[in-house]
Amino acid sequence: MLIAPSILASDFSRLGEQIQMITQAGADWIHLDVMDGLFVPNITFGAPVIKAVKPYSDLPFDVHLMIQNPKRYIEDFCKAGADIISFHVEAEEDVTGTIEKIVACGAKPALAVKPNTSVETVFPYLDKLYMVLVMTVEPGFGGQKYMADMMPKVGQLKQKAPHLLVQVDGGIGVDTIASSAKAGVDICVAGTSVFRASCPKQMIADL
Ligand code: DX5
Ligand code: ZN
Repeated sequence: MLIAPSILASDFSRLGEQIQMITQAGADWIHLDVMDGLFVPNITFGAPVIKAVKPYSDLPFDVHLMIQNPKRYIEDFCKAGADIISFHVEAEEDVTGTIEKIVACGAKPALAVKPNTSVETVFPYLDKLYMVLVMTVEPGFGGQKYMADMMPKVGQLKQKAPHLLVQVDGGIGVDTIASSAKAGVDICVAGTSVFRASCPKQMIADL
Protein backbone atom coordinates (compact mmCIF):
# COMPACT_ATOMS: atom_id res chain seq x y z
CA MET A 1 0.00 0.00 0.00
CA LEU A 2 1.34 3.40 -1.04
CA ILE A 3 0.61 6.64 0.82
CA ALA A 4 0.02 9.83 -1.17
CA PRO A 5 -0.20 12.83 1.16
CA SER A 6 -2.52 15.54 -0.18
CA ILE A 7 -0.95 18.98 0.08
CA LEU A 8 -4.45 20.47 0.38
CA ALA A 9 -4.01 20.20 4.16
CA SER A 10 -0.49 21.68 4.16
CA ASP A 11 0.67 25.23 4.91
CA PHE A 12 0.29 27.00 1.54
CA SER A 13 2.59 29.83 2.60
CA ARG A 14 5.45 27.29 2.64
CA LEU A 15 4.37 24.85 -0.06
CA GLY A 16 7.83 23.97 -1.35
CA GLU A 17 9.17 23.23 2.14
CA GLN A 18 6.08 21.21 3.01
CA ILE A 19 6.57 19.01 -0.07
CA GLN A 20 10.23 18.56 0.81
CA MET A 21 9.29 17.66 4.40
CA ILE A 22 6.70 15.08 3.35
CA THR A 23 9.14 13.55 0.87
CA GLN A 24 11.72 13.07 3.65
CA ALA A 25 8.96 11.75 5.93
CA GLY A 26 8.44 8.71 3.70
CA ALA A 27 5.60 9.67 1.34
CA ASP A 28 5.31 7.55 -1.81
CA TRP A 29 3.54 10.04 -4.09
CA ILE A 30 2.62 13.72 -3.77
CA HIS A 31 -1.13 14.26 -4.29
CA LEU A 32 -2.11 17.68 -5.69
CA ASP A 33 -5.80 18.68 -5.68
CA VAL A 34 -6.77 21.09 -8.47
CA MET A 35 -10.24 22.63 -8.04
CA ASP A 36 -11.94 25.13 -10.34
CA GLY A 37 -14.92 26.38 -8.32
CA LEU A 38 -17.20 24.89 -10.99
CA PHE A 39 -16.94 21.11 -10.86
CA VAL A 40 -16.56 21.46 -7.09
CA PRO A 41 -17.51 24.40 -4.85
CA ASN A 42 -13.92 25.32 -3.98
CA ILE A 43 -10.87 26.81 -5.75
CA THR A 44 -7.29 25.73 -5.05
CA PHE A 45 -4.37 26.14 -7.49
CA GLY A 46 -3.40 25.36 -11.06
CA ALA A 47 -0.48 24.38 -13.27
CA PRO A 48 1.80 27.37 -12.46
CA VAL A 49 1.83 26.45 -8.76
CA ILE A 50 2.55 22.79 -9.56
CA LYS A 51 5.42 23.87 -11.81
CA ALA A 52 6.84 26.05 -9.02
CA VAL A 53 6.88 23.24 -6.44
CA LYS A 54 7.98 20.42 -8.76
CA PRO A 55 11.72 20.89 -7.95
CA TYR A 56 11.05 20.23 -4.25
CA SER A 57 10.55 16.47 -4.66
CA ASP A 58 11.57 13.58 -6.89
CA LEU A 59 8.44 11.60 -5.98
CA PRO A 60 5.70 11.08 -8.57
CA PHE A 61 3.33 14.06 -8.78
CA ASP A 62 -0.22 12.68 -8.64
CA VAL A 63 -2.48 15.44 -9.93
CA HIS A 64 -6.19 15.11 -9.13
CA LEU A 65 -8.16 17.37 -11.46
CA MET A 66 -11.53 18.41 -10.04
CA ILE A 67 -12.25 20.70 -12.98
CA GLN A 68 -14.91 20.91 -15.69
CA ASN A 69 -13.74 19.84 -19.20
CA PRO A 70 -10.21 18.86 -18.13
CA LYS A 71 -9.12 18.01 -21.70
CA ARG A 72 -8.39 21.71 -22.33
CA TYR A 73 -5.69 21.79 -19.68
CA ILE A 74 -3.94 18.41 -19.93
CA GLU A 75 -0.91 19.77 -21.76
CA ASP A 76 -0.43 22.54 -19.18
CA PHE A 77 -0.45 20.07 -16.29
CA CYS A 78 1.94 17.69 -18.05
CA LYS A 79 4.35 20.51 -18.78
CA ALA A 80 4.10 21.59 -15.14
CA GLY A 81 5.36 18.18 -14.02
CA ALA A 82 2.34 15.93 -13.49
CA ASP A 83 3.34 12.24 -13.62
CA ILE A 84 -0.14 10.79 -13.01
CA ILE A 85 -3.29 12.72 -13.96
CA SER A 86 -6.71 11.77 -12.57
CA PHE A 87 -9.80 13.43 -14.00
CA HIS A 88 -13.46 12.92 -13.21
CA VAL A 89 -15.62 10.83 -15.52
CA GLU A 90 -18.50 13.18 -14.58
CA ALA A 91 -16.60 16.26 -15.82
CA GLU A 92 -15.65 15.36 -19.39
CA GLU A 93 -17.61 14.35 -22.50
CA ASP A 94 -14.55 13.17 -24.40
CA VAL A 95 -13.14 10.67 -21.90
CA THR A 96 -11.19 8.66 -24.49
CA GLY A 97 -9.71 11.81 -26.06
CA THR A 98 -8.62 13.06 -22.66
CA ILE A 99 -6.98 9.74 -21.75
CA GLU A 100 -5.16 9.76 -25.11
CA LYS A 101 -3.97 13.31 -24.53
CA ILE A 102 -2.54 12.39 -21.12
CA VAL A 103 -0.67 9.44 -22.62
CA ALA A 104 0.57 11.51 -25.59
CA CYS A 105 1.97 14.08 -23.13
CA GLY A 106 3.90 11.34 -21.30
CA ALA A 107 1.82 11.05 -18.11
CA LYS A 108 -0.20 8.13 -16.72
CA PRO A 109 -4.00 8.38 -17.05
CA ALA A 110 -6.52 7.79 -14.26
CA LEU A 111 -10.28 8.23 -13.97
CA ALA A 112 -12.01 9.34 -10.77
CA VAL A 113 -15.57 8.66 -9.59
CA LYS A 114 -17.57 10.68 -7.07
CA PRO A 115 -19.43 8.78 -4.32
CA ASN A 116 -22.76 8.88 -6.18
CA THR A 117 -21.28 7.74 -9.50
CA SER A 118 -21.43 4.02 -10.19
CA VAL A 119 -18.11 2.37 -10.92
CA GLU A 120 -19.55 0.85 -14.11
CA THR A 121 -19.14 4.27 -15.75
CA VAL A 122 -15.37 3.71 -15.94
CA PHE A 123 -15.56 0.08 -17.17
CA PRO A 124 -15.40 1.01 -20.89
CA TYR A 125 -11.99 2.67 -20.33
CA LEU A 126 -10.26 0.21 -17.99
CA ASP A 127 -7.81 -1.18 -20.56
CA LYS A 128 -6.53 2.36 -21.27
CA LEU A 129 -6.10 3.36 -17.62
CA TYR A 130 -3.21 3.20 -15.16
CA MET A 131 -5.43 3.77 -12.14
CA VAL A 132 -9.01 4.39 -10.96
CA LEU A 133 -9.64 6.84 -8.11
CA VAL A 134 -12.61 5.95 -5.92
CA MET A 135 -13.63 9.03 -3.91
CA THR A 136 -14.44 8.23 -0.28
CA VAL A 137 -15.79 11.77 0.36
CA GLU A 138 -17.61 14.30 -1.84
CA PRO A 139 -14.78 16.06 -3.69
CA GLY A 140 -14.14 19.70 -2.79
CA PHE A 141 -12.79 19.80 0.75
CA GLY A 142 -10.36 18.07 3.07
CA GLY A 143 -11.23 16.88 6.55
CA GLN A 144 -14.47 15.03 5.74
CA LYS A 145 -15.71 11.67 7.02
CA TYR A 146 -14.58 8.48 5.25
CA MET A 147 -17.33 6.57 3.43
CA ALA A 148 -16.65 2.89 4.05
CA ASP A 149 -19.62 2.00 1.86
CA MET A 150 -17.51 2.87 -1.23
CA MET A 151 -15.43 -0.31 -0.75
CA PRO A 152 -17.66 -2.52 -2.93
CA LYS A 153 -16.55 -0.31 -5.85
CA VAL A 154 -12.94 -1.28 -5.12
CA GLY A 155 -13.92 -4.95 -5.10
CA GLN A 156 -15.73 -4.60 -8.42
CA LEU A 157 -12.69 -2.96 -10.01
CA LYS A 158 -10.27 -5.56 -8.68
CA GLN A 159 -12.49 -8.34 -9.99
CA LYS A 160 -12.83 -6.78 -13.43
CA ALA A 161 -9.20 -5.62 -13.83
CA PRO A 162 -6.88 -7.25 -11.25
CA HIS A 163 -3.75 -5.41 -12.37
CA LEU A 164 -5.24 -1.93 -12.46
CA LEU A 165 -4.21 0.33 -9.56
CA VAL A 166 -7.03 1.51 -7.31
CA GLN A 167 -6.70 4.66 -5.21
CA VAL A 168 -9.01 6.02 -2.51
CA ASP A 169 -9.18 9.67 -1.48
CA GLY A 170 -10.89 11.29 1.49
CA GLY A 171 -11.06 10.68 5.22
CA ILE A 172 -8.11 8.28 5.39
CA GLY A 173 -6.50 7.95 8.83
CA VAL A 174 -5.29 5.24 11.19
CA ASP A 175 -8.87 4.28 12.05
CA THR A 176 -10.13 4.02 8.45
CA ILE A 177 -7.20 2.75 6.38
CA ALA A 178 -7.75 -0.92 7.33
CA SER A 179 -11.10 -0.94 5.56
CA SER A 180 -9.41 0.25 2.35
CA ALA A 181 -6.53 -2.20 2.74
CA LYS A 182 -8.96 -5.12 3.17
CA ALA A 183 -10.80 -4.07 0.02
CA GLY A 184 -7.53 -4.24 -1.95
CA VAL A 185 -6.72 -0.55 -2.40
CA ASP A 186 -3.20 0.14 -3.73
CA ILE A 187 -2.78 3.84 -2.95
CA CYS A 188 -4.33 5.87 -0.14
CA VAL A 189 -4.48 9.66 -0.32
CA ALA A 190 -4.27 11.28 3.11
CA GLY A 191 -4.44 15.02 3.72
CA THR A 192 -5.57 16.04 7.19
CA SER A 193 -4.30 12.93 8.98
CA VAL A 194 -0.74 13.43 7.71
CA PHE A 195 -0.30 17.20 7.59
CA ARG A 196 -2.10 17.94 10.84
CA ALA A 197 -0.26 15.19 12.73
CA SER A 198 2.26 16.31 15.35
CA CYS A 199 4.75 14.06 13.53
CA PRO A 200 3.88 13.46 9.85
CA LYS A 201 6.71 10.93 9.54
CA GLN A 202 5.27 8.80 12.36
CA MET A 203 1.78 9.15 10.86
CA ILE A 204 2.93 7.90 7.46
CA ALA A 205 4.64 4.97 9.18
CA ASP A 206 1.48 4.24 11.20
CA LEU A 207 -0.69 4.34 8.10
C1 DX5 B 1 -10.98 16.16 -1.63
C2 DX5 B 1 -9.57 15.93 -2.11
C3 DX5 B 1 -8.74 15.13 -1.19
C4 DX5 B 1 -8.53 15.75 0.16
C5 DX5 B 1 -8.39 14.66 1.17
O1 DX5 B 1 -11.73 16.72 -2.65
O2 DX5 B 1 -9.59 15.26 -3.35
O3 DX5 B 1 -7.50 14.79 -1.79
O4 DX5 B 1 -7.40 16.56 0.22
O5 DX5 B 1 -8.29 15.25 2.41
P1 DX5 B 1 -8.53 14.42 3.75
O6 DX5 B 1 -7.49 13.38 3.82
O7 DX5 B 1 -8.41 15.47 4.79
O8 DX5 B 1 -9.93 13.84 3.67
ZN1 ZN C 1 -7.67 14.42 -4.15
